[in-house]
Amino acid sequence: MADMSTSEDIASTQGEEGTRRDFIHLLAGMTAVGATAAVAVPLVDQMNPDASVKALATKEAVIDSIEPGQVVTVVWQGKPIFIRRRTKKEIEEAKTIPMKILKDKIARNLNTEDKAPATPENRIAAGREEWVIVVGICTHLGCIPLGPNETGAGGDWHGWFCPCHGSQYDNLGRIMKGPAPENLLIPVVEFLSDTKIKIG
Ligand code: FES
Repeated sequence: MADMSTSEDIASTQGEEGTRRDFIHLLAGMTAVGATAAVAVPLVDQMNPDASVKALATKEAVIDSIEPGQVVTVVWQGKPIFIRRRTKKEIEEAKTIPMKILKDKIARNLNTEDKAPATPENRIAAGREEWVIVVGICTHLGCIPLGPNETGAGGDWHGWFCPCHGSQYDNLGRIMKGPAPENLLIPVVEFLSDTKIKIG
């Protein structure tokens, strides 16, 4: 029997086959994507820290009871954080220290650019010059430096004194003397109000 198919029929049949093949491929593809998605969801879930983990990553501290001249230590992620409220005299004293005598000329402030210089402005939060907030770990070998509460003066520079090998920091936590190579690190800090900060 003569083949009565027209070129249009052939095209149509090829089209249907093509459509079927595409459909099968699409189904296969969707199944694969579905399987990947099924695996991916728990992985993404595991990578999304829940609220309690996020809460541990930051710490809020109420600072209104800290008197000028006092340093309070809070613990954040297992590290001591010194929160220092400077007196007017201390603020002025730190401003008189010339940059050229600083041992470490980099701010080491996680709230500023990487290489920002260690000026007084770069060691505090903008407009909050009373407050100095640093990680209380000596940058030599990791001892905890002593502040004015413990030593009366906080070393020759009236900041912090590390009893382990004699490093001395000014009241902005900048290393002035001794074997410590770097200024005390300033963690990420946000002032939520005049009386409350968030660390981390
Ligand atoms: S650990 Fe502080 S001076 Fe050595």
